Amino acid sequence: MADLSTKYLGLDLRNPIIVASSGLTSTVKEIVELDKNGAGAVVLKSIFEEQIHLEADHNIRKMQADGFSYDEYSETMDYIDVHVKEKELSNYISLIHEVKSKVSIPVIASINAVTPLEWTSFAKQIETAGADAIELNIFVMPFDTDKECTDNEAVYYKILKKVKDAVTIPVAVKLSPYFSNLGKVLLNLEKEGANGLVLFNRFSAPDIDIDNMKTTHAEIFSHPNEMFNVLRWVGIMANKLNADLSATTGIHDGASVIKMLLAGVTTVQVSSTLYKNGVGYLSTMLNDMHSWMDKKGFRYVDQFRGKLAHDANDNNNVFERMQFMRYFSDMK
Ligand SMILES: Cc1cc2nc3c(=O)[nH]c(=O)nc-3n(C[C@H](O)[C@H](O)[C@H](O)COP(=O)(O)O)c2cc1C
Repeated sequence: MADLSTKYLGLDLRNPIIVASSGLTSTVKEIVELDKNGAGAVVLKSIFEEQIHLEADHNIRKMQADGFSYDEYSETMDYIDVHVKEKELSNYISLIHEVKSKVSIPVIASINAVTPLEWTSFAKQIETAGADAIELNIFVMPFDTDKECTDNEAVYYKILKKVKDAVTIPVAVKLSPYFSNLGKVLLNLEKEGANGLVLFNRFSAPDIDIDNMKTTHAEIFSHPNEMFNVLRWVGIMANKLNADLSATTGIHDGASVIKMLLAGVTTVQVSSTLYKNGVGYLSTMLNDMHSWMDKKGFRYVDQFRGKLAHDANDNNNVFERMQFMRYFSDMK
């Protein structure tokens, strides 16, 4: 039987399928189940910088509604703020401790950061708690028209640098495709010390309910077609980066994992397909990979990894072509 083992961020994984940061990776019980079902590693549900601020705000508003009045800068507010953060973080640290004692697969902690402020000290605590690596999920909404793109990009580099300075465990950055020069940003993140790059985060999106004339949220799970933009950028960047690439968004079956590996990733990260099909679907995906490798005569993943990346073959055009020029003229 083919050997699916791979290395990601210097960690040994029994196979390239990581369960992505999500509700599926938020409790010890679920993570033990993922381990049993064959996950190569897990990325814990993110601890959100915004969530912690919101929760602190919520507590303050609740106390105000209950008749207490607090000046925004009072000591009480500082106390609530610090208290909520400490509670959130200590829960997260306990989760890491407990998960590490129950599973042998790598456990990657996830920090969702939007500013380079106090998060870096938490990163150190996460390392001390035993996480094998940190995934930094960074997103700066690029809609502030007073800012240049370099201002936004600088936030990513600053957060990464601060975290890298604080920890010795590997750090990956999970990011969106919304950059004016994505390739350069990926190279810069590598220069700032990113050990891995996770392409691409998938966000909550707006929708409109036309019957009730209300704004609402779009589908939270991905569609398999969404993997192709990831495939493009993995293919383009795989031979330009030394950092490990991990693909996420739209990877729903074993065939898509193989495609991403052929384009050059070391791992993939999945969640929607497991929400839809159950965590037992991990073994179907792994079996499909085994069958394909056996059929093709591959014993190890590295025998075919990156075989169809940009520059590795005469296939650059397919990764670079964005417009349907030929189809516009040929299609009836
Ligand atoms: C319910 C749900 C919760 C998620 N929570 C997080 C999170 O806390 N942090 C994060 O980085 N990504 C989060 N994600 C994004 C996933 O990690 C993943 O990157 C994304 O869903 C694309 O993969 P998929 O197509 O396999 O779903 C979440 C996704 C879902 C569906």
